[in-house]
Amino acid sequence: MKIELIGFPMFYGCDRPGVEQGPDKLRAHGLVEIFEKNLNHVNDRGNIEVEQVGTEMKYATHPSMKYLKQVVAGNEHLAKAVENALRNGRLPFTVGGDHSLGLGSLAGVHGATEEDFAVIWIDAHADLNVTETSPSGNIHGMPLGASAGLGDEILTALYEKGQKVKPENIYILGLRSVDEGEEVIIREQGIKIWRMTDIKEKGMAAVIQELLSALKESQVQHVHLSYDIDSLDKTLVPGTGTPVEDGLGIEESQDLIRAILGTKLVGSIDFVEFNPVIDRENRTLNSCLTMLETFAQELGKQN
Ligand code: ARG
Ligand code: MN
Ligand code: MN
Ligand code: MN
Repeated sequence: MKIELIGFPMFYGCDRPGVEQGPDKLRAHGLVEIFEKNLNHVNDRGNIEVEQVGTEMKYATHPSMKYLKQVVAGNEHLAKAVENALRNGRLPFTVGGDHSLGLGSLAGVHGATEEDFAVIWIDAHADLNVTETSPSGNIHGMPLGASAGLGDEILTALYEKGQKVKPENIYILGLRSVDEGEEVIIREQGIKIWRMTDIKEKGMAAVIQELLSALKESQVQHVHLSYDIDSLDKTLVPGTGTPVEDGLGIEESQDLIRAILGTKLVGSIDFVEFNPVIDRENRTLNSCLTMLETFAQELGKQN
């Protein structure tokens, strides 16, 4: 696979410094080499430019959405980079940074694709909040909602006005920390979800079957895969800002990734929320490297 590696060194969306060091930390531990030894070609276009500001800017643009201006500006750059990669026939692999980068990533995919596409969001959280439902004001809890066209215009109009993905084409897996307002949005929008309780009850194999048959039925030709490392159990990822217990094991996560990439429909990927500064004994780093190896192996099998 021809991959365009894009670093997104931002913490403004989670309001907790350290996560902006994720892309360079993973590069220093062989990110490019992991892809290349598995027969992928990598163009590392470096990191997206992110404005450096102090905490006095947190509420400078909006009373509750933190660092709104900086998050929007960075994501406009990211959207352009993702759209360009796709137009040049490469798979954009965006490494965070916090999950607010889903805003730019999905805007870029929307810009480059003519037809409807699907989003598979692997996460402990739904990231469907709008300003009114957000308990934190952290924009990393909002990218999927805004991309679906919900909430404040400032986010929904990012890069291009309006909805980037239809709610019926959204699939969320690994959920175990959903805010009240998000539950309402899931119900009203008919978003397809598999909570951790569903995965434990049915088993990952059955969940994968349900996911793949829903995808097939939808007939989409492009899938965007957004992988939040906090989908993994908190014992595996102490170095993430919002760890949650009772999450996925490494093997469950690998099975899921292999099945999704095995459809050969995945054309763009995010890998987010690794914060090296709060990691313990490199546990999170090692979990990330293991998962990245799985991504690289599956992508390496494709053309
Ligand atoms: N639901 C919480 C919030 O909106 C947590 C979001 C965590 N999101 C993430 N990408 N880790 O603040
Ligand atoms: Mn997330
Ligand atoms: Mn999360
Ligand atoms: Mn449009």
